[in-house]
Amino acid sequence: MLWKDQYELGVPLIDAQHKELFRRVEAFLQVLRSGVSWDDKALQLNDTLEFMKGYVVEHFRDEEEYQESIGYPGYEAHKQIHNNMVDYVLEVSKQYEESNKNEDLMQQFGGRLLAWLINHVAAEDQRIANYAREKGVSGNDK
Ligand SMILES: [Fe+2]
Repeated sequence: MLWKDQYELGVPLIDAQHKELFRRVEAFLQVLRSGVSWDDKALQLNDTLEFMKGYVVEHFRDEEEYQESIGYPGYEAHKQIHNNMVDYVLEVSKQYEESNKNEDLMQQFGGRLLAWLINHVAAEDQRIANYAREKGVSGNDK
């Protein structure tokens, strides 16, 4: 598991969602790297892809709500980063369908998704926790 406890924000709901995202993205990569045929992989990937499209949006919304609730000053900028990511995921899945499930596209996507998740959770999301600590606002009211 690539998740590290130092990624925790101290907000149980958000931390649980982050862990689930790591779990799903890693499972996604495991399928991509497994030895089965591309057709078999594509079947398994489809479920994860659909799940991610829904779950990511839900998680971003919850995280943004939390940021608002503590008066996080980077809220607008952070929301923009989230929106860009959602656009990216939707764009890739559209291209994937249009290309009739192109493997290279998904391999590239898997790598980018993991890199984005680690960078985002380890850096950008930690700024929220730093702010909450500085301000002495509780991260546990959610
Ligand atoms: Fe975030």
